Amino acid sequence: TILILDFGSQYSHLITRRCREHNVYAELMPCTTQLKDVKFKPKGIILSGSPYSVYDKDSPHADPGIYDLGVPILGICYGLQEMAWQLKGTVEECDHREYGFAQVKIGKIGGENASVDALFEGLGDEMPVWMSHGDQLSSPPPDFHVIGYTGTAPYAALAHNSKPFYGIQFHPEVTHSPRGKEVIGRFILNICGCRAHWTMEEFIGKEIARIREICGPTGRVIGAVSGGVDSTVAAKLMHEAIGDRFHAIMVDNGVLRLNEAKQVNEMLNQNLGVNLTVVDASDLFLSRLDGVEDPEQKRKIIGNTFINVFEAEAAKIEAEPAREVEQGGVEKGRVEWLLQGTLYPDVIESISFKGPSATIKTHHNVGGLLKDMKLKLIEPLRELFKDEVRALGRLLSIPAPLVQRHPFPGPGLAIRILGPVTREQVKILQQADNIYIEEIRKAELYDQIAQAFAVLLPVKAVGVMGDSRTYEQVIALRAVQTEDFMTADWYVFPPEILRRISSRITNEVAGINRVTYDISSKPPATVEWL
Ligand code: XMP
Repeated sequence: TILILDFGSQYSHLITRRCREHNVYAELMPCTTQLKDVKFKPKGIILSGSPYSVYDKDSPHADPGIYDLGVPILGICYGLQEMAWQLKGTVEECDHREYGFAQVKIGKIGGENASVDALFEGLGDEMPVWMSHGDQLSSPPPDFHVIGYTGTAPYAALAHNSKPFYGIQFHPEVTHSPRGKEVIGRFILNICGCRAHWTMEEFIGKEIARIREICGPTGRVIGAVSGGVDSTVAAKLMHEAIGDRFHAIMVDNGVLRLNEAKQVNEMLNQNLGVNLTVVDASDLFLSRLDGVEDPEQKRKIIGNTFINVFEAEAAKIEAEPAREVEQGGVEKGRVEWLLQGTLYPDVIESISFKGPSATIKTHHNVGGLLKDMKLKLIEPLRELFKDEVRALGRLLSIPAPLVQRHPFPGPGLAIRILGPVTREQVKILQQADNIYIEEIRKAELYDQIAQAFAVLLPVKAVGVMGDSRTYEQVIALRAVQTEDFMTADWYVFPPEILRRISSRITNEVAGINRVTYDISSKPPATVEWL
């Protein structure tokens, strides 16, 4: 395992990704973590970038004990400056801040140790890299020497004369540094000596063993499935681990897509053999959402109502034996656990060292759990990124169209109806959304788009139909391309596709006379409208 200490850079999670792309497991922890709290023995440590300056009074610092562990350390950007600062070099504000491309010349200037260029081995004499910093080293710490420089940064890359300590001013983790992934590979594979054996096959085996141990021989688990990739993969994994002691619950909260409850039932119960109950709680949800327009309020109501429904279902399930008991299998056990499809980006978001940061949106699977909830959480996907979950799904034989599905938010259509949520409004949006996705699939564009959906606006506009004036609502269409949903760009449709979608929606959906297309990127917009 590689330990990545996060000093709050917006790229920290990418370092984790790049390590895993080399099949080496890496874990991100806040930079203020004390070594005694690290429960594993890292084979190497990477210090991330940061928005801070090492000299700021309140800037974060790593446990200085890391330099005595005898393991290789790589400092990236602020990480380099942090290493230099802790090992008595000097860091200063640059004359000009440096953002963007730079050409790093690779060379052993002033150093004679044979191992020093291990970091850049085989990467040639120079390479383009991405820089983003306001401070830089004005002198290296004692016993370090330069292994790379640019026109403006004489200390763009350093290595210790005898210890496996390295620092680079550029960001190897971003795709704008085309050879950055190789630099990270040199560090974790060659310098730290990690073996590349973190694969999805191995993950499945380990995770199933872990789930069995947590649940014991009789414990039972209840979990929500929504039809989305994460919950389906999590459910299938639980099923592989504990069979019918896992109970999947599909809650029809009244704000699902058209025919979603029926489709999920068919897919999970019939195709994947998961023990599934569909609960129609739409009246309860819609009555609690009645008159609510505030987005965070909608999220909270839905999150809390979910938990209420689950707890009621857990009690019901506890009262009956698992299917396996009837067949002479396991004993009936307590329903102690609640499955959550939490992914690594959510975990990072909650542990990341960013100082006090504003909540943009409360995603219900992290933010909306009841404090006095009796069920304990089990989160088998919490170490994985979305594309890793998809790879896991494929290995678990989940059908491809399902694994490739666009994400669908927990609060469902409630956050895509910008005004009050009513059955009529849900129906309008369901129909428009269905036409939109159907046409995208017909045009074979579904897999090129990261997420597409329709939004129902609470405004009315004038139109004309036949010879009559209409005064009806507007649908906004959204489609984005993104790697990780942290940033996103709007998708450029061929015009004839948009024309067909618009014409079908205005013709087929009663109550809509106008369709618009959202051309905002994230930032400054977000993917969802609420
Ligand atoms: P935003 O709108 O934050 O969306 O740019 C990024 C991704 O997160 C999804 N999203 C949610 N998912 N509960 C969820 O489970 C939520 O409350 C929620 N809000 C946004 C969104 O669909 C996109 O994929």
